[in-house]
Amino acid sequence: MGTALVTGATAGLGLEFAWQLATARHDLVLVARTTERLEQVAGQIRAAAGVRVEVLPADLAVPDDVARVAERLAVTGEEPGDERNPVGLLVNNAGFATAQRFVGGDVQVELGAIDVMVRAVVELTHAAAGQMTARGRGAVLNVASVAALTAGGTYAAAKAYVRSFTEGLAVDLQGTGVTATVLCPGFVRTEFHDRAELDMTSVPAIGWLDAPYVVSQALADVRRGVVISTPSLRYKAGSALLRLLPRSAVRAIGHYR
Ligand SMILES: NC(=O)c1ccc[n+]([C@@H]2O[C@H](COP(=O)([O-])OP(=O)(O)OC[C@H]3O[C@@H](n4cnc5c(N)ncnc54)[C@H](OP(=O)(O)O)[C@@H]3O)[C@@H](O)[C@H]2O)c1
Repeated sequence: MGTALVTGATAGLGLEFAWQLATARHDLVLVARTTERLEQVAGQIRAAAGVRVEVLPADLAVPDDVARVAERLAVTGEEPGDERNPVGLLVNNAGFATAQRFVGGDVQVELGAIDVMVRAVVELTHAAAGQMTARGRGAVLNVASVAALTAGGTYAAAKAYVRSFTEGLAVDLQGTGVTATVLCPGFVRTEFHDRAELDMTSVPAIGWLDAPYVVSQALADVRRGVVISTPSLRYKAGSALLRLLPRSAVRAIGHYR
């Protein structure tokens, strides 16, 4: 069924992507920083689903690490002596909340967010798209956020980039047999908010989505070649409203991180 490479595969949405793709008989390449967690996940998936799982530890804020992942994505399967299969689905999922005000915050956190959620996404997509278009098939799924439509600092700006970039990519890819999809979820129960020590107690239960639901909707949209994937009716409606409102009103709503 082809090989999928998932970044940020040790937790949250990425971990769920890994499990759902393995269940659909995809072999996997799992990328994240924490080698121990990657090995543990890989072992569990191999045992339960019987698919091939490669582990590729990488910090996507580090250029040499991104280059190693790009090298894996560029594999076409035609290289003599290389047993590795080409990647047919790239899921650019790794990310984190900046969770600070820009003014007075740590600028390295802001730059790290751009490295992981913008720079790495561009480099990895470029490597994958080259190999996939040469083979005439494949898909790229980039994880943005409903925050792309808000005024929420560097995090929202990075996600706005990913959303716009993926739409442009989808146009670029027309007629190649390769598709591009951008996932724009609302609040999802993962490690995301705890890692950033964000207080989410004011978000009502109806505002939360579960990772299995978000991932199954996203993969269904990839299979159908949908360009913008926004799981749930409530977030589809919310996103439509955010696009209709005057930007002054959007700015007044405040931050989503
Ligand atoms: N949860 C939400 O409410 C929500 C809403 C909208 C969009 N999103 C987006 O969904 C994506 C996944 O987030 P999540 O909610 O699943 O968060 P999560 O549970 O915190 O998982 C984040 C994953 O990214 C990896 N990661 C973080 N920094 C990395 C780096 N520098 N290099 C490589 N891997 C890195 C982490 O693994 P290691 O720590 O092992 O590296 C982990 O596997 C993100 O792009 C996020 O912006 C989340």
